[in-house]
Amino acid sequence: MKTGAFRARIMNPVSPERADDIADGLLEVGGDGRIISCGPFPKDFRGKFEDLRGKLLIPGLVDVHSHIPQLDCRGKHGATLLSWLDRYIFPAERAFADPAVAVDVATRFFKKLIINGTTTSGLYSTVHEEATDRCFEVARASGVRCFIGKVMMDMHSPAELVEKTGESLAASERLCAKWHGAEGGRLRYAFTPRFAPTCSEELMRGAGKLARESGAYLQSHIAETKAENERVRELFPRYPDYVALFEALGCLGPKTILAHAIHLTDDEYRRMAESETKIAHCPTSNFFLKSGWMPAARVEAAGVAYGLGTDVGAGTSMSVFTEMRHADYTQLGFSLSPAKALWLATVGGARVLSMEKEIGNFEAGKFADFCAVDTAGIDPAYRLSELSTDEVLSLLMYRGDGRAIEAAYVGGKKLDVDFR
Ligand code: GUN
Ligand code: ZN
Repeated sequence: MKTGAFRARIMNPVSPERADDIADGLLEVGGDGRIISCGPFPKDFRGKFEDLRGKLLIPGLVDVHSHIPQLDCRGKHGATLLSWLDRYIFPAERAFADPAVAVDVATRFFKKLIINGTTTSGLYSTVHEEATDRCFEVARASGVRCFIGKVMMDMHSPAELVEKTGESLAASERLCAKWHGAEGGRLRYAFTPRFAPTCSEELMRGAGKLARESGAYLQSHIAETKAENERVRELFPRYPDYVALFEALGCLGPKTILAHAIHLTDDEYRRMAESETKIAHCPTSNFFLKSGWMPAARVEAAGVAYGLGTDVGAGTSMSVFTEMRHADYTQLGFSLSPAKALWLATVGGARVLSMEKEIGNFEAGKFADFCAVDTAGIDPAYRLSELSTDEVLSLLMYRGDGRAIEAAYVGGKKLDVDFR
């Protein structure tokens, strides 16, 4: 049964090389929120439709890595990763001991996702079970598609955040049982050992096992800075390299998403690809913290799939458009085309989250997650009908931000920014 039809210009990323541009298109959505058809507006069409002519439909943006509790930590100058965590991030995460703080921050966070056209997101909460549960409740109310994980850390962490290994695993397991697959699969769980320097081998092994047994995700950070790599070498001298630690503890696999992956060898990238482990590439964050840049050419040559992450609060922007341009600016000797940037921000992100059969573009059968874009929000002088395909793609990549997003839809339903 059809429940919605939308008439607009439609930009459909079909491969890293190409987006199909339908000047006068029609998107038809079924009662189950899935796409029935997407193509040129039929001359003989007699049904009802929402008239969005003058606007552009693009797939909903996919942000594969961000931190809810770090929303207000953006743009704190003057530190690199390990001191930045100590100085700014751990104190902010401590505040989630009060679930009311979690509700306040998460509500503002999800509103910003909607305003920025992000319809699917891979998220971290804090170590707190109740706060994480509240984040899921806010996610449910917002209508956004996401997974969230309670952060796990059981060593070398501030006193108020350090957990007992068994309790961390048990709390994560409870949250997974409650939320993984909730809302018809719109909400999912990710076991979230923060990063090796704050996790025991027992915790990482336990997280890997629980993720495998439950079919949920596993997310963590890897090789973001050289200082982090050095600390991992000191703490875990028996592993030949950083990826070997994740391998030995059963933490690699198709549903593992590791953020940053900057300072790794070609052999480590090869083994990540072999296990189908994914990378969350967060270029804004990486330049903000002066961590370095993920070597996209080497990662691609090794065959590791990667998507774009805002990594708020080391990332200063909530917009995946910002990551699209920074994924280009931060590379030397590697040029990212606007068509590929849009593909990475949608289909590529969906693939990283193992959701490529469900979301990412306008293929029939996928969920109708999309944004209505108004290019006049970028500059009132622009008329969409006068812009070529390449001009539209370049505009989104190099100058896009939340001002261009008129509305975001998940499963054909418009998200309400005033959801609470
Ligand atoms: N590595 C471990 N934790 C974090 C975090 O919260 N942000 C970033 N950017 N890197 C991390
Ligand atoms: Zn992160």
